[in-house]
Order: sequence, then structure tokens, then C-alpha cells
Amino acid sequence: MATNGTNANGQPHRTAPSQNGKAYEFTDHTFDVVVVGAGGAGLRATLGAAQAGLKTACITKVFPTRSHTVAAQGGVAASLGNMGKDDWRWHMYDTVKGSDWLGDQDAIEYLVRNAPAAVYELEHFGVPFSRTEDGKIYQRPFGGMTTEFGQGPAAQRTCAAADRTGHAILHTLYGQSLRHSSEFFIEYFAIDLIMDEEGVCRGVVALCLDDGTIHRFRAKKTILATGGYGRAYFSATSAHTCTGDGGGMVLRAGLPLQDMEFVQFHPTGIYGAGCLITEGSRGEGGYLTNSEGERFMERYAPSAKDLASRDVVSRSMTMEIREGRGVGKNKDHIHLHLDHLDPAVLAERLPGISESARIFAGVDVTKEPIPVLPTVHYNMGGIPTNFHGEVLTKKDGNADTVVPGLMAVGEAGCVSVHGANRLGSNSLIDLVVFGRAAGLRCAETVSAAEEQPDLPVGAGDNAIARLDRFRYANGATPTAELRADMQNTMQSNCAVFRTGEILEEGHAKIHEVWKASDDIRVTDRSLIWNTDLIETLEYDNLIAQAVVTMDSARNRTESRGAHAREDFPDRDDANWMKHTLSFCDTVAKTVTLEDRPVHTYTLSNQIDYIEPKKRVY
Ligand code: SIN
Repeated sequence: MATNGTNANGQPHRTAPSQNGKAYEFTDHTFDVVVVGAGGAGLRATLGAAQAGLKTACITKVFPTRSHTVAAQGGVAASLGNMGKDDWRWHMYDTVKGSDWLGDQDAIEYLVRNAPAAVYELEHFGVPFSRTEDGKIYQRPFGGMTTEFGQGPAAQRTCAAADRTGHAILHTLYGQSLRHSSEFFIEYFAIDLIMDEEGVCRGVVALCLDDGTIHRFRAKKTILATGGYGRAYFSATSAHTCTGDGGGMVLRAGLPLQDMEFVQFHPTGIYGAGCLITEGSRGEGGYLTNSEGERFMERYAPSAKDLASRDVVSRSMTMEIREGRGVGKNKDHIHLHLDHLDPAVLAERLPGISESARIFAGVDVTKEPIPVLPTVHYNMGGIPTNFHGEVLTKKDGNADTVVPGLMAVGEAGCVSVHGANRLGSNSLIDLVVFGRAAGLRCAETVSAAEEQPDLPVGAGDNAIARLDRFRYANGATPTAELRADMQNTMQSNCAVFRTGEILEEGHAKIHEVWKASDDIRVTDRSLIWNTDLIETLEYDNLIAQAVVTMDSARNRTESRGAHAREDFPDRDDANWMKHTLSFCDTVAKTVTLEDRPVHTYTLSNQIDYIEPKKRVY
């Protein structure tokens, strides 16, 4: 579907110099809206902008239906009340509590109030949800989702298409986006944003992987939907493509990332392989045991047990292993039992993970437990935005200053509805609600009829300089070696439990890896399907985010959500109920940390601000 593009201004295509003396030539494109990334959030934003009659492009480094949303299994949260009484206010309470009071309550209200409509919209688009006996969308329990403001039984709130919900949503949204004539640039890798002197985002530069051509996309709005940066860690449920490309571009543009210290470990990654076993498996009745066969979650979370929130379950598993009650030869993992469940239920509701367990753990789930271990799964932190998806920065003391022309959605963004810990199935709903919100905002603020100003002189030269530097990088250290050092450091020094000492060591090590990156070596100098070069550009995005993650974690001297400091075991609202903003100078290789107030107000008077209290399950 990609076009060759036309020169936007009737001027000759511009060129930028290369170290080999042969200039790079830009192919120019002009769109009202350019979305970078074709996962659930990117596709929903693309669809929304196109539906509004805006000329919309979606640039993606993988084929859209290969985006990481395809791996989301268990479901999408919305208080439909199909399987018992439910209310958006209860969903709001659970999300605020799950976030350990770091979530912005105006954004959370926007999320949960719009969730049911967003799910029905998906149903009407064609998502093949599983069904109840009476034909309604099937909903299962998920961790931390309750009724009656935490006082009632577990809520059945997570709408599921068996255990392939993300897959179903992604395919449906791609079809809908094509139907509304959005233009896709597939296997294009975004190199850098085009920012003008006034700090306005004017578009993005991308490399076409297939033929090595360089493209300048001029846009009134650029929406980053590039996903998380799970691959900064050694073991992650995230695809190898989850390299935080949007976050890297934002840091290089001198803009901040928010709450990067909050990294979610999913309790049930398959031991060794790291592949996801959905929380929906515990929603369907699965449970965890230690080497003594004990259902230990009853001790840590007497009420919610195996369906406590993910940070609580991951910490409990880690404590069992540390105290010598892990299973296996090395007593270093935990068992997840589904073997007591009806094989018919497993076949109908959990076919995908039954297959994953067989392939990656050699386990027949109808007969044996699955070996599991907490595995990096999700980044609560990301590019700060308001609930319209507009990117925010801190200017003259105002941390809610909108960056004109730039938006972010999905895991790349931090709106912040998940705060310090995301509840399972709140990610898919975040993608569709805020992807839709971004499309609506474009419809409100962008006029298709309005002429776009010419790009500034030198637009895109920063991207070319970056590309060319890595293309001809002639150091002594291959990218793979630096990447392994980064991943091992993050895995050992910024994990489920943290201490000042471990983080101090991690800070020294990760900055060392960052500095050593000046000595990087790329061996392939071509531009066509050069995986050596692309992995290096991805590594460069990852390392900056690994560094700000470590530094933000070292800075936050309290425990909140997924950030568990053994030396500061309590939440400290007086000093730390605030977002971390991390800026970095990627040339001087320095980090500056600032903060941003949490929004302690709601959107409407239909729910009051939910006051902080101790978080127990
Ligand atoms: C899961 O099914 O456990 C993953 C879905 C999510 O992270 O929300």
C-alpha cells in the first residue's frame, strides 16, 4: 500500500550528506495525521483520524497484524455486567487502588467510563468475542478487579475472545483501518521526529527497510504508538520488536518520559522461555503452588489469593523462591496448576496457552502444572500525555504543557491510568479508549483544508545524522554485546525487589554500558534489510530508556506498586505521591530528574476523588 510519495512543496527532493560522500535523498510525504506503530492503539488512532476525513498514514516496522498486541491473551476490561452486577465506579476504584494512587484520576475516569462503549464498538467492528449461553460477551475474573469498591466478590469484567483477545482485536482494527482508506507504510522504521525551533512536532523521518529509501513525513499531528521497551530486560513476555522506539525519539527531542521506574513483572511467564501464560488462566480457576504443594497466595493475599494484583503475586512468588520453597532442581520457579480444570473448559477458554505450555515447557496442562516465573511484561512509564493523547512536557514550572503537533497512545504513552502498577486487562482497554480519544482529538483540532507550512530548513538532518553515524559505526564492540550487558544489568539490578545498594550498582553499570556504546560496531553498511543497523538503532532507543529507568528507580526512596524497595518498604505519600519526569541528554549522556503532580481530581462530579489508603488484597 505504500506510495512513493510526492514532493509536498513543489520543490526538488532534499538531500542530506553521508559519510560515504553519496548524499541521502528524501522522499517527501504530506499527511494531516501520521501514526507511528500499528498495534491496537496505533490502529485505533489511525482508524479514528481516517474516519474524521483526515488524510492519515500509519508507519510500522512490522506488518500490522504482527504488532505485539497480537500477543495479548486474557482480555479487555469493561464493566459490561454480563456475568454479574458491575459499575464503572467499581472499575475506577480498582484501577486507582491497583495504581497505588499514582494514577491520574481524571484520566482513569475517562478510561473506565468510556470502556463499555469502546468494547461494544469493537464487537460491532467484528471482534469475535467468546459468548455466554445467552449470547452476550463472555467476561472472566482478572487480578485486582472487584465489586462494591473492593468490598464485594471478584468482578467478572474482562471481556475475552478465548485467550487470543489481542489477536482478534488487532486483525479487526487493521481491517477497519483499511476500510477507511488510511495509507499504510509497512516495514518502515521511524528514525527521528522532526521538531521545529518553536518546539512544534512537524513529522517524522523513516527508513523503508525493503529498499533503503528515506522518507520525510510532514504532518499536522504525529502520534507515537510504538509500544513498550520490555526488551531492555533479558527475560520479557514482550516481542523482540518492543524496543521503545517512540520513547527514544522523545528523549532525543529533549522531552521527558514519565514514571519509568515502574516496570511490571507478569507472575506467569513460562520458566526459561519467558512466554506469557495469561492471568486469565487464574481467572478460570488456576492456582500457584510452591515446593511443598502449598497454595501460598492464601498467606499473602487472604481475600483475592491468586487473583491479587500482579505486583503482589510476583513479589509473593519471589519470596517463596528466596525462602527455599521454589520448585524444580534448582528450586528457582513456581508451579501453575490448571490440571484440576475440566479439559473441555481448557480447550474452549484457554487453547492458546495450552499450546504454548506444550511447545515451550513440554507440559500437558490437563495433567501437569506449568513451570512459571515472574517475567517483565509491561511498562507503566512512558511518554507523558493528557487524556486526549497530547504529549506533555514541563515548561516554566508547568508540567502539563502540551507539545504542539505530538501525541502518544498505548504502552508508549503514560496518560497515566496505570500509575505504579497496571491491572491485567486494563492494557487492551487503554489501547482502544485512548487510541479512539486521539482520533477524536485530531478530528477536533486538525482541519483537512488548512495548508501546512513548509518544513524548516534542515528538517530531517538530525535523523540522517543518527542513521549515518550508526551505519558507519566502526568501534570495537558489537551491538549484541552491548545489548546483552544492558539486559543483564536491568534483569539483575532493577528487578522485582530493589535496594539502594543494588540500584547504586545498577546505576554505575548501566551508565558504563551507555558510555561504552560510543564504541559500537556495525558491520553491514548497506541500507536494504540491514538487521545489524536496525538492531543498533533499536538498541540506542533501549539503552536511553534503560538508563532513565534505573536512575528513576534509584531516586524514588519509597515502595509503591511495582517499585518495591526493601530499604524503604512503605509507600510515602507525603514525599512521593508524584510522577517522575526523566529528561536525558543523549549526546552528553546525562540524566535530569524532575517531577509532575499526580492529578488528584476526577473529570465529573459523578465520582469523588478516591482517597489514598493502605493497599491490601
Ligand atoms: C494476560 O492475559 O495476562 C495479559 C493481558 C494483560 O497484560 O493485560
